[in-house]
Amino acid sequence: MFEQVANKLKKAEKIVFVTGAGISQESGIPTFRGKDGLWRKYDAMKLATIDAFYEDPKLVWEWYEERRQNILAAKPNPGHTAIAELEKHKQVHVLTQNVDGLHQRAGSKQVYELHGSIITIRCTTCSFKDNITSRFSDLPPLCKCGSILRPDVVWFGEALPQDVWQDAIVQASSCDVMIVVGTSLVVSPANLLPVYAKQNGAVMIEVNPEETQMSSSMDLSLRSSAAKALPELLTIVS
Ligand code: APR
Repeated sequence: MFEQVANKLKKAEKIVFVTGAGISQESGIPTFRGKDGLWRKYDAMKLATIDAFYEDPKLVWEWYEERRQNILAAKPNPGHTAIAELEKHKQVHVLTQNVDGLHQRAGSKQVYELHGSIITIRCTTCSFKDNITSRFSDLPPLCKCGSILRPDVVWFGEALPQDVWQDAIVQASSCDVMIVVGTSLVVSPANLLPVYAKQNGAVMIEVNPEETQMSSSMDLSLRSSAAKALPELLTIVS
């Protein structure tokens, strides 16, 4: 699959991945805009905005708690594992839009969570913040300070965590190869990261069963799934 970029992959020192929901699809986690995508079934403006949260925190929490338990029951797939394994051969940084923590569970060390984490819970008022994997019985759950807790994810209309975003721009602008996996690239500002890499002269590779708005500007755009294509990367660089 990667013949036409094999030499550049072998020579590369730093490989940066930009990943989206598609890399976790083969772990049983639905994408957002794909065939069985979440935003095809649910109204994002009723479930994934701060206004929706304050309008009906119980509804929002019921949906997030169901997603949390689904994610906690899921396992990394060969796509996640291949990226983690690649760290043994190359400098690898993973800029992910996913909130599922599967890259870290696969063993990836340099993961930048652009849209936060569904495992991390924080208070809407005080500085409480912690990773919580147990199921919440009372929804919405309350903090010791009495305020409502929320998942530490970035909702529509909210800013990305600025430290993570700035670090992601640095990595995207200094990589030899960028591999864009499982994202429709419709959400900004994450969809700017491939632009930074291309402007910096990186070799651009895409893995996605479907075309995206950047497919034509890739050096290689593979119509394949993450779990099928990414393990082959290892055979080239190891
Ligand atoms: N392997 C690789 N790619 C896949 C696979 C797979 N097995 N299955 C689906 N895909 C591709 C789809 O073709 C699609 O292009 O993954 C992409 C998923 O796109 P989206 O559902 O739009 O997800 P994503 O790009 O991650 O969404 C970005 O939008 O809803 C918000 O905050 C949320 O982080 C999310 C952001």
